[in-house]
Amino acid sequence: MSTSTDSQFILPPTSEPLPSSNAEMQRKRRRTFAIISHPDAGKTTLTEKLLLFGGSIEIAGVVRGRKTQRAATSDWMEMEKQRGISVSSTALTFEYAGCQVNLLDTPGHHDFSEDTYRTLMAADAAVMVIDLAKGIETQTEKLFQVCHLRKIPIITFVNKVDRPGRASLEILDEIERRFSLEPIPQNWPLGTGADFEGIVDLNSDQLYLFNDRQGSRRIAADVMNWHELEESNQVSASLINSTRDEVELVRSAGGAFNEEAFLSGRQTPVFFGSALTNFGVEHFLNGFLRLCPPPGVRPNDTANVPVDPTQFSGFVFKIQANLDPRHRDRVAFVRVCSGRFERDMEITIARSGKKTRLSRAVRIFGQDRITIEEAYPGDIIGLVCPGEFRLGDTLCDGPVFSYDALPQFSPEFFAVLDCSDTGRRKQFDRGLAQLIEEGAIQMFHDPRSTRRECILGAVGELQFDVVQFRLQSEYNAASRVSWRPYKLARWFDLPDLPKAADANEIADRIKLPYAAKLVKDQFGHDAVLLQTDWDLTTLLRENPKVSFQSIRTEKKLTP
Ligand code: G4P
Repeated sequence: MSTSTDSQFILPPTSEPLPSSNAEMQRKRRRTFAIISHPDAGKTTLTEKLLLFGGSIEIAGVVRGRKTQRAATSDWMEMEKQRGISVSSTALTFEYAGCQVNLLDTPGHHDFSEDTYRTLMAADAAVMVIDLAKGIETQTEKLFQVCHLRKIPIITFVNKVDRPGRASLEILDEIERRFSLEPIPQNWPLGTGADFEGIVDLNSDQLYLFNDRQGSRRIAADVMNWHELEESNQVSASLINSTRDEVELVRSAGGAFNEEAFLSGRQTPVFFGSALTNFGVEHFLNGFLRLCPPPGVRPNDTANVPVDPTQFSGFVFKIQANLDPRHRDRVAFVRVCSGRFERDMEITIARSGKKTRLSRAVRIFGQDRITIEEAYPGDIIGLVCPGEFRLGDTLCDGPVFSYDALPQFSPEFFAVLDCSDTGRRKQFDRGLAQLIEEGAIQMFHDPRSTRRECILGAVGELQFDVVQFRLQSEYNAASRVSWRPYKLARWFDLPDLPKAADANEIADRIKLPYAAKLVKDQFGHDAVLLQTDWDLTTLLRENPKVSFQSIRTEKKLTP
């Protein structure tokens, strides 16, 4: 038997020829991913442990601090301080075993899930954390749907095996049943809860025995071949027998790992572990780095003309205002997709054709900003900008093209904002128009109404607070919220009608349930606002030939 304290990491296999350029080498060693989970499943704890392996021990403290101490470094917005929540997301970066790992940080609060949804558009893979006791919960389900839309490969981490939970086989069954995703276990727990004794690597048959409960530090594990366990007398015969039965069942009934099925989002490798006791996390990290794809080609409008991998391109997936209240600036977060970013380079914004010099590029951690001199595919750069960028903008050096537009997600809260001080009406209108354009909130209007009332929509209620806060702090315009009773939006196209069809003509084609509203969004797309799921069922039943979408994408990725 040997003892393992550190990584036995194997660099990801290099089946492709060795890269010829430095930029290509940098791309191949990047791993960019986000963690999706329901609150309390263990995302923060897992993030902290991953950072520990990356040597960012101090940073790991901040991750926890951010969740528990409400005024920690990342609570940069005044509103965050008041509410004790984090509304911003950026990237945490660490080096491990020759890879640069970019972990896209997503807000834990479900009111900001629209931010999380968009952040997933910048990821090359997602880690789905599931609590062994609770299984798949609502927020995980919603986030899974967004990954599914983009066919993002998902690696599952079943957490809290040190706590009494459900049977491990039951969790696999649930993943398969609810997500039509074939789970391929990579390791298997030797007992759970009080009986948790270790983890068997199903690929090598190595057993890592849980012999040290030191909590947050890297811990030692006894390593032996799983088949030698019986003779070692370290674990009860009944636990060995039941685990052997499970492993045999998993091996005989389960499918084999297939890279293509994993990369196209049909299979998910599953790891079991305990983030809190730091057991199985290193095994997971090594497996994750082996499986997670490096940045690849992204969907774009160049049809069959491939994006030149040597020329810089990227897209804006998030805009955050007031990161530094002293400057009232905005930061556009850009995911680099190709080529090499260099500070001060001149690029074209594909939407406007405008050329712009990128002189203020930063990596942000809490209050700190570190100037970025260069970046490669998979990296996230923050561009300090006075307002020239919009969500979804493509930035490119060389021939101009656009990456696929960011999807729009169905709001769950709708309201009308009124200007409280008529003397500030102009500033209010300007501010609101700017925030809608920036993507801070969605806007709908009824084209047949003469009132031209703007109904604002957001996935989370607190997004309205952010908009009100920004109107007040950036435009000195106070506002009042009047809620509207709608709870969902469904976009639709009527292909046989011209895009600029008359609103009455469209209304004639759609049979609306009572109390639903036919609207256009800020881009002129047709949508229906509905109050209940029952209304939605009626809408679908009454209009069987129309395809309604809960997520609006230009390329209609939803079925
Ligand atoms: P989240 O970011 O997904 O919301 O979850 P977080 O990591 O904050 O974990 C939620 C709770 O679950 C925390 O307990 C955390 O300590 C606990 N936890 C996380 N991973 C494990 C695990 O592997 N095993 C066990 N037993 N517990 C785990 P808390 O009491 O809410 O917070 P704290 O007092 O520990 O900070």
